[in-house]
Amino acid sequence: MKLHIDRPNPRQAEFLSATEKYIAFGGARGGGKSWAVRTKAKLLALRYGGIRLLILRRTYAELESNHIRFLRRELQGIAVYRSTDRIFTFPNGSTIEFGYCANDTDAARYQGAEYDVIFLDECTQLKEQWMHQLAACIRGVNAFPKRIYYTCNPGGPGHSYIKRLFIDRRFEPGEKGEDYRFIPARVSDNTALLQAQPDYIRQLEALPRRLRLAWLEGRWDVFEGQVFTEFTDDPSHYQDRRYTHVIAPFDIPREWRVYRSYDFGYAKPFSCGWWAVDYDGCIYRILELYGCTNTPDEGVLWTPERQFREIRRIEEEHPYLKGREIRGVADPAIWDASRGESVYETALKYRLYFEKGDNRRIAGWMQMHYRMQFDEEGYPLMYVFHTCRGFLRTVPQLLYSQQSPEDVDTKQEDHIADETRYFCMSRPLPPRKLTATASLSFHPLG
Ligand SMILES: Nc1ncnc2c1ncn2[C@@H]1O[C@H](COP(=O)(O)OP(=O)(O)OP(=O)(O)O)[C@@H](O)[C@H]1O
Ligand SMILES: [Mg+2]
Repeated sequence: MKLHIDRPNPRQAEFLSATEKYIAFGGARGGGKSWAVRTKAKLLALRYGGIRLLILRRTYAELESNHIRFLRRELQGIAVYRSTDRIFTFPNGSTIEFGYCANDTDAARYQGAEYDVIFLDECTQLKEQWMHQLAACIRGVNAFPKRIYYTCNPGGPGHSYIKRLFIDRRFEPGEKGEDYRFIPARVSDNTALLQAQPDYIRQLEALPRRLRLAWLEGRWDVFEGQVFTEFTDDPSHYQDRRYTHVIAPFDIPREWRVYRSYDFGYAKPFSCGWWAVDYDGCIYRILELYGCTNTPDEGVLWTPERQFREIRRIEEEHPYLKGREIRGVADPAIWDASRGESVYETALKYRLYFEKGDNRRIAGWMQMHYRMQFDEEGYPLMYVFHTCRGFLRTVPQLLYSQQSPEDVDTKQEDHIADETRYFCMSRPLPPRKLTATASLSFHPLG
């Protein structure tokens, strides 16, 4: 029996030899984290006969594609794999199990389980509460090491917890600083990957600024503060339209397509935006209607009926919109008919049709970032007429969420941003300045 192991890079070597109770590895994409997890699991299993190891990811599909398929090959003739319960058993009695945790029910399944060592691969994709529940499984009376290995990238629901422990090192009562070790790893440390896939770094370099800082440079502080920091309102460029997202209104050429995006609100504000699209696919927010039932306009409530009646009227009368075919995209929640007539049905009464918006939030914010990015000459792919006051007041101010760091905090006035996101998702762009092969599927967040 002979186990072949590739040579670790220096960061991986540090990871493999660390002996603290809690070891975090990574901080950026592609640093060779999953490789390090698999390798450490194999080494521990062979070194300590009878040890119980768990490798955990968010989903089973991720386990399969990141770990199981490699280990089946690498452990052929060394350990036996039983796919029914996803477990490798070594001749010395050691086991490597695989687990996933994507929700509270999954996390509860680990209650009472016992492991010596747990690997939480991509742990920032897990909620803090689940990590506590999983950590409670580290126990047993044997003399084997008891450890948790965390691999991580900035972002995700576990971001704040991991950042507190391993980056900021702000410990709470019961947490001992000497138990926690962070080993940074970046794609530039992963010589194997750089040789096999030189394109990978270029893909990371082409990401919008924050994600690039997070994933390429391993920066943990980027998802703090304002979300759309690139948004620029520079009146000195309203005419030439360079290095600004805000411009003076102009007449919309008849040939351009016009769209309507809508986010429903009754107790909270609703928002309707109208967009024109030029021949290059650049989008212009030309008009908007924004209101809230709680702040009645001239004493009249913005009931759904009134919202759609007004939208209809504007489309029939406004010079930008009159006589045009206007396509709509809306918050998918308006199709909900569980409480009687759906909001969509109300819209239909006013002959307003909508497609269901794609509500993948983070992918949607990314689309807005792609559109706001300036090209080499300073042109973005999204403009807002300076008359769209609601957009200009609310969108640039939005802040990141504490719980889900790359997402927008939903406690803010985010309705115009939501409606904009649905529109951008209805005509998604590939990441800008990328080679033809790159696509959005590159983002695990999407
Ligand atoms: N020491 C090594 N020797 C040979 N190949 C390696 C080594 N380290 C990593 N690799 C390979 O580099 C690629 C990327 O590594 P890995 O998947 O571990 O990175 P990662 O940090 O987990 O990436 P991600 O952030 O995308 O999850 C994989 O194909 C992996 O097998
Ligand atoms: Mg990985």
